[in-house]
Order: sequence, then structure tokens, then C-alpha cells
Amino acid sequence: MRCHNIHTMKLVSPSLLSANFGELRRDIEMLNESEADFLHVDVMDGMFVPNISFGQPIVKHIKRHARKPLDVHLMAVDPGRYVTDFADAGADILTVHTEACTHLDRVLHAIKDRGMRAGVALNPATPVILLEDVLQLCDLVLIMSVNPGFGGQKFIDNTYNKLEALRPMRDRKNPDCMIEVDGGVNTRNAAVLFDAGADVLVAGNAVFASENPKETIHMLKQ
Ligand code: DX5
Ligand code: ZN
Repeated sequence: MRCHNIHTMKLVSPSLLSANFGELRRDIEMLNESEADFLHVDVMDGMFVPNISFGQPIVKHIKRHARKPLDVHLMAVDPGRYVTDFADAGADILTVHTEACTHLDRVLHAIKDRGMRAGVALNPATPVILLEDVLQLCDLVLIMSVNPGFGGQKFIDNTYNKLEALRPMRDRKNPDCMIEVDGGVNTRNAAVLFDAGADVLVAGNAVFASENPKETIHMLKQ
């Protein structure tokens, strides 16, 4: 997952939130055969975000069939409560929201102590400066480019300003940390986002609503 030139790798993490839940295994197998680098797994608690998606039992099922690392995006209040559960469920990366954590430093340490990569997510209204004192603990920073809760929303253009602010901070504090952009990513903005400093792009609707998801994943990486 990590290598010297990680920042030129153009990674894609398709979001299973847009998969067909009745045919989850089929969709996971399609992603196994695709050029996807990670599987993005959106866990929503109905409190931090208005929507409820799925929890640990489903993640465990996804893990059983996935041949790529699970990139678990936990949209839950007080996510420190669930670190052990998601480690047991098979998360490889566990990303928590800074807005949801009173003691973010402690939660990031707990994630790493359980052998997972630690990620921090920022809502569109949360400035990147809040990462100044935790970036050294992060394997990944997730910039939300829509307000979290739903797939298929419109990309927020201010994301480019956030990438511009985050990039030098990342290079200075933790050059190995990956930057992920999540929400409204498609084949039209992917190349611009990689150029702007994204290392990983999450794509739900763009992949699963397309006629040929594997080809779309390939195009996102071009
Ligand atoms: C939104 C989720 C996203 C979502 C992205 O709260 O965090 O991962 O699945 O979906 P698209 O790519 O459709 O905007
Ligand atoms: Zn997500």
C-alpha cells in the first residue's frame, strides 16, 4: 500500500454504498477483478449523518470476499467506541471524522494499536488547519467533497482550495500520508483532482451507475 512514490499512484477506492446490496458478493467480485485499489466502505450511524447504511456484520461479510484492502469510512458519533469492532471485522484503513471525536489523538492511537491504518476525515466546512497537530499520526486524510450521508451528490468546488492548503502541510509534517477525496468524483474531474494532489479518489455513483464499472474504474485512473 505504501511505497516511495505513493503520491503519483492514482489510487481508486470504489464506494460500496452505491453497490447493489442484494448482490453484494457479485459486486465485490467485480471489484476484485477491476483495477480498484481499495474497497471504500461507508458506515453511517443515523446520528453523525442523517442516513443509516450498515455495520460490522456486513463489513465482516465484505471482508470475506474482498481481495483488496477495506477502506472503512466511519461516519459515526464518538467513533472511538467502535475501533475494536472494526478491527475484528477486517478493516485495513479506519477513517474517523474529526468533528465526531472529542479526543482525536487517542482514537488515532487506538486505531494504530489495533493494527489498522488510521485516517481522519474532514467535512466540507471543516478547515484543514485542524489537522496541524494530528497529521503525524495519520496514514490518510479524507477530504469530503460533498456533505456526508448520501451517494450521488454534486462535487463542492472549494475542495480544490482545501487540497492546496493540505498538500504543503502534509509534505512538511508527514510526507507518507495519503490524501483521499470523497464525494461527487467522476471521470470528468478525476484527472484534475489527481493533479491537485489527491492520492486516492472514492467513487460510488460514477462507478456503479455506469454501464461498464470496470472500464469506469480504469478511466478514473487515466
Ligand atoms: C458519502 C460517502 C461517500 C459516497 C460517495 O457520505 O462518504 O463515500 O459513497 O458517493 P458518490 O461517489 O456517489 O458521491
Ligand atoms: Zn465515504
